[in-house]
Amino acid sequence: RDLLGFVDGTANPLAEEALDTVLLDDAADYPRGSYVTVQKYIHDLDKWNELSTEEQEKVIGRTKADDIELDDDIKPSNSHVALNDLEEDIYRENMVFGSFAAGEMGTYFIGYAKDPENVMERLRNMFIGKPEGNYDRILDFSTALTGTNFFVPSADLMKNFDELPPA
Ligand code: HEM
Repeated sequence: RDLLGFVDGTANPLAEEALDTVLLDDAADYPRGSYVTVQKYIHDLDKWNELSTEEQEKVIGRTKADDIELDDDIKPSNSHVALNDLEEDIYRENMVFGSFAAGEMGTYFIGYAKDPENVMERLRNMFIGKPEGNYDRILDFSTALTGTNFFVPSADLMKNFDELPPA
């Protein structure tokens, strides 16, 4: 569960399927590499905890206790799941983090894809909205403080670093 109290990662592709989803294929210049997008979010838990469980479920789009996706007729179009349920083409590895010293806690979003556009499309849906203005309600309770996109080379590629073709 993330700090919002919901099970996180359910709709991820499983095992081998996940590797096919996120790793560049053998014909690519840098085979079996991947792109990872990370974002550090903090949550306004006081504001979040003012919502009833039912209202929270409408923000996420799944039930809280047993993690069942809401039916389409009750799942709001600005819920997190509605705006992110596209093709299964990313793999998420969110991490809960917290520091009492810094008084800061939240979700470290970690999303892998073979094409960074798969993550970017979802970020546009979340932040700009789909249609525009219909942004993700999770953002009423979550603020992204940082965000970065990295290329993740395969272990084989790192071993043969001196023989790399030009980018
Ligand atoms: C505040 C940060 C975030 C939190 C707390 C969060 C939490 C969740 C939760 C609880 C779910 C439902 C369970 C699941 O299927 O994993 C979910 C689904 C999902 N989230 Fe996030 N998420 C965050 C940010 C993001 C971002 C930045 C992206 C992509 C850019 C993203 C993409 C997805 C996708 C693709 C799904 C599955 C949708 C589906 O097919 O049902 N999430 N997230």
